[in-house]
Amino acid sequence: MTLAGRTALVTGAASGIGASCAHRLAQDGAHVLVLDNNREAAREVASDIGGQAVIVDLADLAAVEDALVGCEVDVVVNNAGIQYLALLHEFPRKEFTRLLDVMVEAPFRIARATLPGMYARRWGRFVHITSIRGVRGDRRKAAYVAAKHAVEGLSKTIALEGAENGVTSNCISPAWVETPLTHELAQRQANIHGTTPDRILTDVMLGGAAIKELVAPEEIADLVAHLCSGSARHTTGTSIPVDGGWLAG
Ligand SMILES: NC(=O)c1ccc[n+]([C@@H]2O[C@H](COP(=O)([O-])OP(=O)(O)OC[C@H]3O[C@@H](n4cnc5c(N)ncnc54)[C@H](O)[C@@H]3O)[C@@H](O)[C@H]2O)c1
Repeated sequence: MTLAGRTALVTGAASGIGASCAHRLAQDGAHVLVLDNNREAAREVASDIGGQAVIVDLADLAAVEDALVGCEVDVVVNNAGIQYLALLHEFPRKEFTRLLDVMVEAPFRIARATLPGMYARRWGRFVHITSIRGVRGDRRKAAYVAAKHAVEGLSKTIALEGAENGVTSNCISPAWVETPLTHELAQRQANIHGTTPDRILTDVMLGGAAIKELVAPEEIADLVAHLCSGSARHTTGTSIPVDGGWLAG
């Protein structure tokens, strides 16, 4: 129970990687704030783990700040993410702004609101679920690639500023994980390229990986738990790929 007495905020915790992280951190003793805009699913996860659902749309930046007033948060797992596929010269401005709000501005506001409490208690952990797209570009994903690169930078700044107050900040950068988002994207890519989601999964998504399997969300959650543990006290400012060897090629 390494996180007994600590409060963890997990964004996008109603599904996929976020839900796995919420379960894992609760197992380690944390009281988990299950933040999501999917009311029903967030309540279900919160009820399963004895946590608290926080229903917020991260695109509503004022609501994000309001939701955090009075919360003492020790661990932030900045996980919520969305995708929009379009070539850059056709990319709708509104979608670019929405993705950047959800994936960059909201995490910035959450960090800004929670850091003073962590500094006062002299302990805090940030884990940002970025992506291999936080270090490499991709076609049709201008907003996602820009947002993930931005969060990698935000994390390094938190690591440098937080060090003297016991706050660490790290990124986990997965390739493809077995979640609803992955299957939805496989379907969308299949529609664009006139093929099947299975072919997109095997030939495109896993094409560049050495281990040609989707990563289990629990594997990401275990790494989050490690980064929040005493064993990772000096691990800060890093980005850890969980990519089946994708970046090695
Ligand atoms: N699945 C993958 O293969 C993969 C790979 C690399 C990185 N990632 C990253 O991991 C993170 C989680 O992905 P996932 O696959 O578990 O996704 P998912 O779609 O299964 O879950 C995302 C969760 O975020 C919530 N969410 C979305 N927009 C929100 C908003 N505006 N406000 C509040 N909540 C919102 C959704 O309701 C959902 O519960 C994302 O940041 C994603 O970019 C995923």
